Amino acid sequence: MTIKEIYDLAVKIGIENDFRTKKEIDEYLKHRKAEYDKLSREEKEYFDKERLVNPYSDTRIHNANGAKNIKKIFTSVDVSMGGLMLAKELGADLVLNHHPIGLALAGLDDVMNYQIDQMEKIGIPVNIAEKLLHKRISEVARGISPSNHYVTVDAARLLEVNLMNVHTPGDNCAAMFVTRALEKAKPRYVGDILEELLKIPEYREAKKQGAGPILFSGGKNNRCGKITVSEFTGGTEGSKEIYGAMANAGIGTIISMHQSEEHRKAAEEAHINVIVAGHISSDSLGMNLILDEIEKKGVEIIPFGGLIRVSRNKKK
Ligand SMILES: [Fe+2]
Ligand SMILES: [Fe+2]
Repeated sequence: MTIKEIYDLAVKIGIENDFRTKKEIDEYLKHRKAEYDKLSREEKEYFDKERLVNPYSDTRIHNANGAKNIKKIFTSVDVSMGGLMLAKELGADLVLNHHPIGLALAGLDDVMNYQIDQMEKIGIPVNIAEKLLHKRISEVARGISPSNHYVTVDAARLLEVNLMNVHTPGDNCAAMFVTRALEKAKPRYVGDILEELLKIPEYREAKKQGAGPILFSGGKNNRCGKITVSEFTGGTEGSKEIYGAMANAGIGTIISMHQSEEHRKAAEEAHINVIVAGHISSDSLGMNLILDEIEKKGVEIIPFGGLIRVSRNKKK
């Protein structure tokens, strides 16, 4: 596989596991193209044109020294500078990181617009979702702005290590996987959800590592009510002011990857049960589902940087 083929495959899998339909995503890209066309020549120069074809602004190829055949991938949730050197030492053809770096980190706020669609899909009036999320998206954009986001990209270039990161497509896969598992299991009590999550190997392994799924708000004997896996994908944490609207939309329990104390308190005040499935374990689950498709093409996968690798491919 070439780097571009791996990138295209990851985006394709991301779209297949998006809560939006393919048609909705195409319309979103069309709307973006119309906005792009209105820009001045000078503004167009600064526009990341990849945004016209890839709906995930937090997923990018950062360094590709020629489209050589990729046989070995070094993959992590967070690649460090040492990790890049280790990847080179191990003869990896590509480092595939989960969390955004470089231009993809600068694009993290943009992908949060997806949360507006998610909120609309669970029954929150879109005007309310938009108002609350837009405020939060601008907060995140200001939060990212001082970061030195090209350090890892620069290191990869100097080391001549190919580097890519896949963020939202991975998180989409994890969100869809957990949603389907819970839809199938139909848990009645919050405690049943915790049991269901522990049937997923990444969460079992995380529990052994001291980071298993935990109950953040509510009680194990509370009834779940309507469950939503709403805090897995869409960049980063959304608005803490949204929980009241979620409760009004009939949501009883939220499954989250990770949640700040401020968000937890706000969810509790809205009487919503919250289960935090686990951050790195959920990121691993999502990436594993993409890595499995890459592995099927004969590519060796070396996990690193926290990634709990579980292959769902049958061993030959
Ligand atoms: Fe993630
Ligand atoms: Fe993450």
